[in-house]
Amino acid sequence: MSERIAHSGLKSKVMSAQEAAEFVNNGDKVGTSGFTGAGYPKALPTAIAERAKAAHDRGDEFQIELFTGASTAVDCDGVLAEANAISFRTPYNSDPVLRGQINAGEAKYWDIHLSHLGKQVQEGFFGKFDVAIIEAVAIREDGTVVPSSAVGNNIEYIDAADKVIIEVNEWQSRDLEGMHDIYRIEPAGQRTPIGITAPGDRIGGTAIEFDTSKVVAIVETDRPDRNAPFTPADETSKKIAGYFLDFLEGEVKAGRLAYDRYIMQSGVGNVPNAVMAGLLDSKFENITAYTEVIQDGMVDLIDAGKMTVASATSFSLSPEYAEKMNAEAARYRDNIILRPQQVSNHPEVIRRLGLIATNGMIEADIYGNINSTNVSGSRVMNGIGGSGDFTRNAQVSSFISPSIAKGGDISAIVPFASHIDHHEHDAMVIITENGFADLRGLAPRDRVKKMIDVAHDSYKPLLEEYVEAASKSKFQQTPHDLSRAFEFHTRFLETGSMQK
Ligand code: COA
Repeated sequence: MSERIAHSGLKSKVMSAQEAAEFVNNGDKVGTSGFTGAGYPKALPTAIAERAKAAHDRGDEFQIELFTGASTAVDCDGVLAEANAISFRTPYNSDPVLRGQINAGEAKYWDIHLSHLGKQVQEGFFGKFDVAIIEAVAIREDGTVVPSSAVGNNIEYIDAADKVIIEVNEWQSRDLEGMHDIYRIEPAGQRTPIGITAPGDRIGGTAIEFDTSKVVAIVETDRPDRNAPFTPADETSKKIAGYFLDFLEGEVKAGRLAYDRYIMQSGVGNVPNAVMAGLLDSKFENITAYTEVIQDGMVDLIDAGKMTVASATSFSLSPEYAEKMNAEAARYRDNIILRPQQVSNHPEVIRRLGLIATNGMIEADIYGNINSTNVSGSRVMNGIGGSGDFTRNAQVSSFISPSIAKGGDISAIVPFASHIDHHEHDAMVIITENGFADLRGLAPRDRVKKMIDVAHDSYKPLLEEYVEAASKSKFQQTPHDLSRAFEFHTRFLETGSMQK
């Protein structure tokens, strides 16, 4: 048995994943660890999927409701979706099989701000959870659990569950111990201010304290986190990174930012990761991050001495960088803090710090409404993630995206966003490979030219044509021609291209 299970009473709970899966039943509400491909359980999901398949073969029903921190990976969401074992999923998913089931109406998905879910679990919105399945680096002698490469909603699920199953993963570096800052948010009515005034502040312990009598099983594993690699930065991403830096430089010139006071929040995705590479050669120093995930680009910034501290709830590293982090976790412990997602994404702290939020998007409209989630209004991509937590509360909220997708058949700048995750009152700066549109302080009609300027040349005439039609509207605050507002999307659905 692994020396990582140091609590004497819990040693007797070690069993196989198949035996532990017997504690999970049809209809159960299951809360797991896991956030953007890190720290999710790696043995139980397969064993639960096998249980579901066997039940389906017998003609019995077997599906669970799955709650996590955010996305997981193929050996969690993927295997369960393949076995048709998920009836309900929240709060974020990027698994392609499950995405297909959600978009086909076969599984239900609740897309919610990542800072809200744990809070609502705590507040009893979902009642009791049947099982919590949490990946850990170790169980200490006193029974406290050291989380692995993500903290997510671990505390909330453990507290709400009747049964707790812990996966102790030998692949995860033992040196992650000490990187976590575990702080329990008090129940509503008893909450006190969260004492974080700088991204590097630590306010909690390094492991999760809980009622160990709830532990029904411990499973030992040694499987790696399985994140997808980032695509190398292409010319478009490099141009976006360049305009993002121009924007930051403008903030410095205007006296709203200093070269040594940039606090970064960076969303998930290839383009945000590429933007971080652009910072390596910039004038910015002592960068800190108060963000949700640590991506490859932040590790590079730390290595280059450009970033001093990165606070997040999880890693979201390519396989190569995950191996590096595992080998050198002790070296990064002074630079990286992993917190519960209620804290990493907390509006109070985000507002206090005055950070610059930068997230990817599906599309933006001519007035600055942002769609981060649903292609052509109905087909979910991933989910809102933490983009709303940061966008609403940041000092500056920016969105970055190539101006076209799918070889030019889709424009990222449209007359009216087909789904709105962040509206014109929150989004401030939109950046594409054609420049940046700074919408701060502008009435809707004054935003239109700036938005068309960042659109792709091939779509500018179509956008101008729409604006001309909309300008005949009887009301001039936010002029629209509702009979044509979605013509880019309807044309795409009919012909496969937004182009005329
Ligand atoms: N219509 C259809 N598809 C679009 C699109 C649009 N307007 N814009 C982008 N896409 C597709 C791309 O073609 C690509 O598809 P592929 O995987 O089949 O090639 C995919 O979306 C990813 O696009 P990419 O340009 O590589 O950007 P990205 O990796 O930065 O991801 C989002 C963009 C919007 C999907 C991503 O940022 C996201 O999920 N955001 C929501 C959550 C979030 O912001 N979290 C951060 C909080 S910390």
